[in-house]
Amino acid sequence: MNDNQRDELIRAALAARAHAYAPYSNYQVGAAVLTDEDRIFGGCNVENASYGLTNCAERTAIFTAVAQGARVLRAVAVATGDGGSPCGACRQVMAEFAPDGGASVAVYLLDAAGAIMRETTVAELLPFGFTL
Ligand code: THU
Repeated sequence: MNDNQRDELIRAALAARAHAYAPYSNYQVGAAVLTDEDRIFGGCNVENASYGLTNCAERTAIFTAVAQGARVLRAVAVATGDGGSPCGACRQVMAEFAPDGGASVAVYLLDAAGAIMRETTVAELLPFGFTL
């Protein structure tokens, strides 16, 4: 991933965050993934009056990518108001589509302006993750 791709990924996460549907928590999240075919897909959190049906931004982005034929993640960006870290469910879903245990898949945690608050990897986020 080059610097231009990283910047584009960050912009996509911010753009997706603008579409967040979070009337219950008022915690807007945007995510974007870069795939091994150099495609970028965005997603936002989508809440529901039946709270447990809420879908996180990361899973929205990954499921959108998979539905468009992608299978391998290269990088993930997540934009929140405070540089928040992905939940456990989203980490497991990232791991599903991360090669080599996720060590090579960069994860950028961004604030609302797109500044990188933390840079990590899927492997660091989910040590000893479940596999079949
Ligand atoms: N949320 C995400 O979109 N991603 C995460 O990794 C953690 C939480 C959303 C779900 C809900 O809409 C709001 O943030 C508050 O939990």
